[in-house]
Amino acid sequence: MEKLVCKTPGEFEYQQAETPVSKQGHSIIKIKRIGICGTDLHAFEGTQPFFNYPRILGHELAGEIVETDHPEFSIGETVTFIPYFNCGKCIACRNGNPNCCTTLQVSGVHIDGGMVEYLSVPSYSLVHGDGLSFDELALVEPLAIGAHGVRRADVQKNESVLVVGAGPIGLGTMKFARIAGGNVIALDINDSRLAFCRNKIGVQHTINGLNENVIEKLIAITNGDMPTVIIDATGNLHAINTAFSYLSHGGRYILVGLQKGEISVSHPEFHRREATLMSSRNATRADFEHVIQSMKNGLVDPKTYITHRVTFGQVKDQFASWLNPANGVIKAMVSMD
Ligand SMILES: NC(=O)c1ccc[n+]([C@@H]2O[C@H](COP(=O)([O-])OP(=O)(O)OC[C@H]3O[C@@H](n4cnc5c(N)ncnc54)[C@H](O)[C@@H]3O)[C@@H](O)[C@H]2O)c1
Ligand SMILES: [Zn+2]
Ligand SMILES: [Zn+2]
Repeated sequence: MEKLVCKTPGEFEYQQAETPVSKQGHSIIKIKRIGICGTDLHAFEGTQPFFNYPRILGHELAGEIVETDHPEFSIGETVTFIPYFNCGKCIACRNGNPNCCTTLQVSGVHIDGGMVEYLSVPSYSLVHGDGLSFDELALVEPLAIGAHGVRRADVQKNESVLVVGAGPIGLGTMKFARIAGGNVIALDINDSRLAFCRNKIGVQHTINGLNENVIEKLIAITNGDMPTVIIDATGNLHAINTAFSYLSHGGRYILVGLQKGEISVSHPEFHRREATLMSSRNATRADFEHVIQSMKNGLVDPKTYITHRVTFGQVKDQFASWLNPANGVIKAMVSMD
């Protein structure tokens, strides 16, 4: 079979490889779709921290089972899988939080992933396709990231949810905050992304942090209350630190976005609000199932997110172009058939 290896930053190479053989506890998937995400782009750029090369990228995957020992799955079935492989024994795993296992291995990040024709995955990670298309199934993982953040926030109907950052992760977060009934406010510094939020995601309010007074607008939108939930999806330290001051008293602040520095917050301001700060890492099976159910209910349209399409053979040549913001990539989708 063919595989596409990221040999070093900036360099992809197609190579021939042995097709995986069956082993106990594993299933083999014929890959049909590979969604490209920020992590893949950063790995190619060489800006992803703690990333080792050579590596086969790809963790947003959909395909067809060719071999399985899982009694609830069958050969030929359409599936996606949860690409965060966990130990099953640590404190997080024991407490039902495999998404933050102490020795988590993410397919396509810590171990080789899905830019291959056939991939062997732990059978416990399989997720039924449930009649969804390959495109939809390859979008489940990135959308589950936002769905998990929204679940962590415990968003209630009609409460004000400020989502900062309207990249692919923020757009999914906004969608699931809308599905939870939140009154969503999108904050970004990119007008075309904000227009996308209004026109394609159904976001009620948008603010451009570059040329609008954010606090004044938030006061107006929330009748002076300020947002009771803020979710960061920028991964930008300045944006993360600034947003503490946008939070309502009694509010919750959830960090889906990730950056390398140290967060700094005025303790008296944080105390005054009796605020709650949470991180949100990856997603769980419950989030995957919530995304799938939302797709089945017609609440999420894959066409909204997929802006670029290529075949497997075109990835090497096209990949660098997806790094250019002028190309307006939200989700590039690779088809294997
Ligand atoms: N929780 C998880 O497990 C998980 C999984 C995947 C990605 N992430 C993180 O989510 C974050 C977002 O990922 P993405 O792929 O959507 O990134 P992206 O870079 O495509 O989007 C970030 C958005 O934030 C906006 N932004 C940047 N600085 C801003 C500022 N000061 N004020 C307002 N908006 C600002 C940008 O204009 C952009 O639209 C990253 O930090 C990424 O590492 C987390
Ligand atoms: Zn991803
Ligand atoms: Zn574990």
